[in-house]
Amino acid sequence: MNSPLSCKNLRLFSNSVACKCLVLVGIALFYRALLLSYSPRNALNGSLLIRARHMSDSSSSLTDGIRADKFLEVPQIVWGLNNQKIAFARACLTARLMNRTLLMPSLSSSLFYKEVDKLRPIPFDKVFQFERFNSLCSGFVRISQFSDVRNRAHVFDLEKGSGRRWTVERDLEQLKHSARNESIDEFEVIRVIGKNPFLWHDHWPVEDYAKVFECMVVVDEISREADKVVMKIREAGEAERAKLESKTEIPGPIPFVAVHMRIEIDWMIHCKKLEQRKKVSEICSSKSEIMERVGNIPGLKTPTVLYLAVADTLLEAKEEDSSVLTGWRDGLIPFEKKKLGVKEEIYGKYSYLIQSAIDYEVCLRADIFVGNSFSTFSSLIVLERTQKARRLGFMSSCKDGENEWRSYAYNLAGESKGVPRRWMTNMTHSSLQAISYGSNAVSCSSG
Ligand SMILES: *[C@@H]1O[C@H](CO)[C@@H](O)[C@H](O)[C@H]1NC(C)=O
Ligand SMILES: *[C@@H]1O[C@H](CO)[C@@H](O)[C@H](O)[C@H]1NC(C)=O
Ligand SMILES: *[C@@H]1O[C@H](CO)[C@@H](O)[C@H](O)[C@H]1NC(C)=O
Ligand SMILES: *[C@@H]1O[C@H](CO)[C@@H](O)[C@H](O)[C@H]1NC(C)=O
Repeated sequence: MNSPLSCKNLRLFSNSVACKCLVLVGIALFYRALLLSYSPRNALNGSLLIRARHMSDSSSSLTDGIRADKFLEVPQIVWGLNNQKIAFARACLTARLMNRTLLMPSLSSSLFYKEVDKLRPIPFDKVFQFERFNSLCSGFVRISQFSDVRNRAHVFDLEKGSGRRWTVERDLEQLKHSARNESIDEFEVIRVIGKNPFLWHDHWPVEDYAKVFECMVVVDEISREADKVVMKIREAGEAERAKLESKTEIPGPIPFVAVHMRIEIDWMIHCKKLEQRKKVSEICSSKSEIMERVGNIPGLKTPTVLYLAVADTLLEAKEEDSSVLTGWRDGLIPFEKKKLGVKEEIYGKYSYLIQSAIDYEVCLRADIFVGNSFSTFSSLIVLERTQKARRLGFMSSCKDGENEWRSYAYNLAGESKGVPRRWMTNMTHSSLQAISYGSNAVSCSSG
């Protein structure tokens, strides 16, 4: 969901007058939720419940350089998994700037446009490991439970401005001022009021976001489900290979390529508009373009299993999903969730957010990942794969060759004809802009 505010999300529902009214109500509720998504009463109630369980680590006032007795509180985090990850990281980095511990925010388990009246809060630690986060991010950023707050009445409300005149510079000045101003800093809790953190101005380099993302390890249950899906993919590949015995070229496990396909109708409408607005022509890729470019990835062994991470349930609702399975070149064996038998058995058990998190983990584990450079979901996967490649010493993938954690953008032409562009996140960018809103200036090098 690159642009949650766009009409693409609502278009499906706007066929009749009655539905248009519903949409208007929805928009109103949405803005209300943005403004009021923070509810101090609930937080207090929640904290009393949690307090019983967590009497432990609130004693020391300074943990690894970040003050543990001063807190920052942010509104509920909303929209798709990728937007929520960025919003969470932005909240962490804001807390870091103020030398404060971030009070563990609520994420949202449903996409707002499907259940406008319920943003379905879900605690951060139901999706990501809490203790693990603090230990991996120790000395950099820190989160803590509401139960660690001593005096809930001692709260300073920091209202972020809005509109054209609320510039990046003013926003940063406000944060720095609040950190420096003693009469504000003495408050135990600074509570940011207003927009959800994804909409805050960005003040941090890609490298800082990457550090926070690295500390966000999904809970074991999600990780196990992703392992199961990957196992199914490999088993399905083996079964197909057995049938093709004669064509087998390689011993060992069948390579697995994950393709994050964005071809559903509402994305196509959205991306055509984006192409007009940005005056570029490389955002939307048709199914046949994706098939051609993926088929031309250099050095692809056959057979190879393709896992088609089809972007949205909207696609399935329209019964178009089976058509993505045909048209691939010989030797590529495509699967999506239904054909793999994981749609109901695994994904179906979970909310939207958890389903996305499982899909994200599956794409992360692929031998090769192919996505759209204008998708935030694809961009975050490539960022994390870039980190993994860097740890193995691959700082660049510009030359042909087989580095691990390879990724490609299928919406961009590569060096030779019909080939997708190699893609690594440029870690030296000074802001996350390119990643959070998409770009066609993708790099094959990490900086
Ligand atoms: C806590 O929740 C209960 C029931 O959900 C409600 O009656 C009570 O008013 C709440 N307390 C506060 C302080 O919000
Ligand atoms: C945060 O404040 C503590 C205590 O004042 C200080 O020791 C520490 O260096 C500060 N950390 C940062 C990152 O500024
Ligand atoms: C500190 O912040 C308070 C509250 O916003 C404000 O009234 C005061 O003028 C500020 N002090 C300085 C020195 O800016
Ligand atoms: C990475 O980004 C930096 C800063 O935006 C830029 O100067 C550099 O040329 C980029 N590197 C590559 C390989 O694209």
